[in-house]
Amino acid sequence: MANVTVIGAQWGDEGKGKIVDWLASRADAVVRFQGGHNAGHTLVVGEQVYKLSLLPSGIVTGTLSIIGNGVVLDPWHLKSEVEKLRGQGVEINADNFAIADNCPLILPVHRELDGLREAAAGAGKIGTTGRGIGPAYEDKVGRRAIRVCDLAHLDALEPQLDRLCAHHDALRAGFGQPKIDRDSLLKELAKIAPFVLQFAQPTWRRLNKVKKAGARILFEGAQGVLLDVDHGTYPFVTSSNTVSGTAASGSGLGPSATGFVLGIVKAYTTRVGSGPFPTELDDDTGQRLGERGHEFGTVTGRKRRCGWFDAVLTRQSCAISGVTGIALTKLDVLDGFEKVKICTGYRLNGKILDYFPSHAADQANVEPIYEEMDGWSGTTAGARSWADLPAQAIKYIQRVQELIETPVALVSTSPEREDTILVRDPFAD
Ligand code: IMP
Repeated sequence: MANVTVIGAQWGDEGKGKIVDWLASRADAVVRFQGGHNAGHTLVVGEQVYKLSLLPSGIVTGTLSIIGNGVVLDPWHLKSEVEKLRGQGVEINADNFAIADNCPLILPVHRELDGLREAAAGAGKIGTTGRGIGPAYEDKVGRRAIRVCDLAHLDALEPQLDRLCAHHDALRAGFGQPKIDRDSLLKELAKIAPFVLQFAQPTWRRLNKVKKAGARILFEGAQGVLLDVDHGTYPFVTSSNTVSGTAASGSGLGPSATGFVLGIVKAYTTRVGSGPFPTELDDDTGQRLGERGHEFGTVTGRKRRCGWFDAVLTRQSCAISGVTGIALTKLDVLDGFEKVKICTGYRLNGKILDYFPSHAADQANVEPIYEEMDGWSGTTAGARSWADLPAQAIKYIQRVQELIETPVALVSTSPEREDTILVRDPFAD
């Protein structure tokens, strides 16, 4: 029985929520392994709508849900998300929820710094979610983070606070901000500590235990490969590794545990925030994609940029992340387009490229080369088998999988869980 690792294969917002929800309902444990509360998805279960940005999706169905060490955790946000879900009747306790005790914390100073930097960057801003994700990861690799396990030893926090404050106070002075108020930070940490600590443990042990007992584990990725800090459109990326390999390091289970890598791929392309986007459409077609696809960010409410499917970028993401099969989502958004286009290569300084170059200026200057296909007049919305799809939509799917050199495992045809064409069950592998 395979475990499954779900990752976004574009710039996030590929429609992971529905697929992860479906897989979570069949898993014994769900683990988040990177990112923080910059992620966002909406789960619809019966009449209830749940909005998650930090908690693993399994929480809603009572499946063991774990926040792994690769995540950066805002303890105040955690409390409010847990309380909100409890208010909706979701049971959350130390039996079904655990947080890695070596997880770094996002502190108010991180959120402030995120905002100050973005404001100062003007047109050059990254367009972050403003949640302090980048500064918190910086402190982790800078070896001055305060971690979940430190909450149990606040009386011994002085040396760490010294390191943290020495770094941040200098930065804050540059922005004309007062020094960190150490006393009030300590007080706030002491207040939130019992809430976090009731769930804290070395989750790598718990995961290894359930793995040995034969549990099916779902690794729930956030954002997308093109936002990966190494492989994405640097510097317009998030500050974690979003590729499948992080499932191992960010959870404390080795790479052999990550199993079937399911890449979630939207039938067209979207992006929130700044940065290169070769197939972006600044015209009526882009507008139409955005309207039909309801392309607004779950966390920030920002309008998403929209464009045609980019097979070059998606092929690259699938290769880098070792994707076993893809879930193609939101195909119905393309219903009714007379013609649809797929980017199959780039032109750059008179040369043809079949990959996305690493340098930011090259990334900004590539010109997409398109292949045009006939669209379809019928609808794909709600299709549950190939027979329900217009012939031209099937041709589109086939062309996508050919170009990205990765097979389709699932096709999602509406937000409803049942409106899915299952080609290959990731858990059955
Ligand atoms: P940060 O993760 O808040 O630092 O934001 C860095 C970049 O990642 C920005 O372009 C954000 O819009 C983008 N980003 C972060 N989280 C998500 C997500 O869950 N979906 C889509 N984009 C995201």
